[in-house]
Amino acid sequence: MSANQKPSVKPARNQFSSGPCAKRPGWTLDALKGALVGRSHRAKPAKARIKQVIDKTRAILGVPADYKIAIVPASDTGAVEMMLWHTLGGRPVDMLAWESFGEGWVTDVVKQLKLKDARVLKSDYGKLPDLTQVNFDHDVVFTWNGTTSGVRVPNGNWIPKDRKGLTICDATSAVFAMEMPWDKLDVVTYSWQKVLGGEAQHGMLIISPRAVERLESYTPPWPMPKIFRLTSKGKLSEGIFEGDTINTVSMLCVEDAVDGLVWAESIGGLKALIARSEANLKVISDFVATHNWIKFLAETPDIRSCTSICLSIPGETGKKMAALLEAEGVALDIGAYRDAPPGLRIWGGATVDTSDLEKLMPWLSWAYAEAQTAA
Ligand SMILES: Cc1ncc(COP(=O)(O)O)c(C=O)c1O
Repeated sequence: MSANQKPSVKPARNQFSSGPCAKRPGWTLDALKGALVGRSHRAKPAKARIKQVIDKTRAILGVPADYKIAIVPASDTGAVEMMLWHTLGGRPVDMLAWESFGEGWVTDVVKQLKLKDARVLKSDYGKLPDLTQVNFDHDVVFTWNGTTSGVRVPNGNWIPKDRKGLTICDATSAVFAMEMPWDKLDVVTYSWQKVLGGEAQHGMLIISPRAVERLESYTPPWPMPKIFRLTSKGKLSEGIFEGDTINTVSMLCVEDAVDGLVWAESIGGLKALIARSEANLKVISDFVATHNWIKFLAETPDIRSCTSICLSIPGETGKKMAALLEAEGVALDIGAYRDAPPGLRIWGGATVDTSDLEKLMPWLSWAYAEAQTAA
């Protein structure tokens, strides 16, 4: 088929947004039928459902027994910020940023908390900062996967097991699609609407024993709003990590989170989720390898994300392609992030079927040819 010819087959599901991401295959509103709506979230059955999210999360992700897991307010941002506000300031901090969300955490620490001892290690879109420069006597804040550049850290080898500072990792577009080396991570955060395609609004917070120790031994000099408070009288509020949420949760969202986790179990757990995502990346890698007008934004294969797959196309072409593909009903929400270099961003997380990405590829060629003609 020539590139200009319109393909005849469309992806069965055209949702390729990087957040909220596609629901799991086969999802319908029926998945929420059992939601405990109209009940107090403190009622026994509701609390049990919340606890189910925590327990299934621990089992699927292989979170160590001595790490604590909570559902917290305000999505991934809430989870990250409560830990920045709660733990930082007692020792210097290294802030790593290579795209928009990492830069957001730099703003929090430098401009809002105004920490004097903050060191910013930054790089352009497509690269990682020099990880050998990180000082682990300091606290370290980083994103595992930069959602807007499609650049992920290759592994946890650059983080020592014994370190003085805490590692605070925003892993929202990585968890359930990439291995998390728990012994290297003191704080891991994410939200439900990414890899498992849940509903947005609640954050997940996973903390190590060292992070608990910090919470119990350090009191920051600034006030702590109730929405961020994880301790009471110098002790961890254990209940928050057992389903007694800080404030009211949506039982509809909780039901959906359970549904996503049950699906994850049904396909074979974390290994299967990662395999689905890597297979999705491979479809796009094979396409890029044979088309010279499109490149990965991530400069080397080892740092290429298997979830937020960012492709570089100069000028306005990517924007036009995304609009054309949306108008055809072939692919929704695949334009590059507003602050990122131009191109496309296609979600390859576990809820996206590889067969749909395979169907999408010829459409990219068609849209590129169309966008060129229109130029
Ligand atoms: C790396 C990263 N951090 C933070 C956020 C913000 O997440 P939320 O909207 O769940 O607070 C996002 C959202 O896409 C993200 O990709």
